[in-house]
Amino acid sequence: MGDRAVQKEAKKRMREIAKSNRAIVKKFEDEKKRKHVPKLEYQTEMHNPNNILEIDNLHTYFYTDMGTVKSVNGVTLEIPQGKTVALVGESGCGKSVTSLSIMKLVRGPSGQITNGQIRYNRPTGPIDIVKTPISQMQDIRGNEISMIFQEPMTSLNPVFRIGSQIDEAIMIHRPDIKKSEVKKQTIKMLELVGIARAEGIYKSFPHELSGGMRQRVMIAMSLCCNPRLIIADEPTTALDVTIQAQVLELLRDLKTKIDASILLITHDLGVVAEMADFVVVMYAGKIVEQGTAIDVFLNPQHPYTMGLIKSKPVVNQEVDRLYSIPGQVPNPVHLPNHCFFKDRCDKCIECCSGDIPELRQIGQSHKVACHLYDEEEA
Ligand SMILES: Nc1ncnc2c1ncn2[C@@H]1O[C@H](COP(=O)(O)OP(=O)(O)OP(=O)(O)O)[C@@H](O)[C@H]1O
Ligand code: SF4
Ligand SMILES: [Mg+2]
Repeated sequence: MGDRAVQKEAKKRMREIAKSNRAIVKKFEDEKKRKHVPKLEYQTEMHNPNNILEIDNLHTYFYTDMGTVKSVNGVTLEIPQGKTVALVGESGCGKSVTSLSIMKLVRGPSGQITNGQIRYNRPTGPIDIVKTPISQMQDIRGNEISMIFQEPMTSLNPVFRIGSQIDEAIMIHRPDIKKSEVKKQTIKMLELVGIARAEGIYKSFPHELSGGMRQRVMIAMSLCCNPRLIIADEPTTALDVTIQAQVLELLRDLKTKIDASILLITHDLGVVAEMADFVVVMYAGKIVEQGTAIDVFLNPQHPYTMGLIKSKPVVNQEVDRLYSIPGQVPNPVHLPNHCFFKDRCDKCIECCSGDIPELRQIGQSHKVACHLYDEEEA
């Protein structure tokens, strides 16, 4: 076939995919537009009432003209009340899409939660976020669950002063605070996140602040409502090392002050070791290992986790070259039907060409998805 014939064929294929995508996403979008959804439809039960959040078999896909991007492909994890759970994995493994799914902020119509449950232990009774109507989600977002993003500049409005932006957040989320008291509350929030000249910063524009200060402002804003769950997506990646340490210290301190739970998303294992009670390792849209920080760091079982830990630089240890896991993450549009890590794995055994391994319990709190442990059981 000549080049033009190939191009023509590819365009035809894309048109077919686009047509089929339109039909699929219409079904989801129609469901979202439903008004007056009865509470009974989204009420649920927590499997463990001590958890604030339980994600069960979550699938979030993007229906693009190039094919279906399976960004989150069967994620199951839980966040116990008052604990910090770190979600780690290489770039593109689906960490941010998981967090956006929790907030129901996945951008439609192409992005859709196609399957699974996100059980949230609301003070008024547990709900399944996947089935919860957007009107209810607006009450939850920012009030009960808040999010801190990687790049504060994208979340702060450059043309408004810091003070007025936090004032506005307080007015939206805390109707119990009188208008005359709002500024006082804003200054209190700025002081809470360790900003010394709070009155001065109140009058500043975002561009007048350093990156670390802006991230503190973002954290102050996300804490206005005393959230029960904070999702921090790479909160320190854009900051230099000393500021990183200060922001982490701040998050840790705040967690005890306001007794919140934290879902900390990062690819920095150093941050995880310092902050997390539990660690969840994600690879190509799936969870490959999870457990307490001690389980995962001191006793990693999945070859991918072992590779991640090996590739982390260690202070006072001289190496010629830092280890990096060979190969690449599989294309999320064309995922294999065997273990997604197989092409990069140095521990591969015969059955690895078979079914995709399921997450199985290997210790009290330790789970892993790898055929090496099927063998042990046999
Ligand atoms: N709007 C979108 N349309 C199509 N694909 C998307 C979209 N958003 C994310 N994806 C794809 O979903 C996959 C997961 O992306 P995600 O942003 O969750 O990765 P991540 O783990 O947060 O990576 P990073 O560490 O780089 O932030 C990637 O393959 C990405 O290309
Ligand atoms: S299932 Fe096999 S290929 Fe996959 S991580 Fe385990 S040993 Fe490696
Ligand atoms: Mg991300």
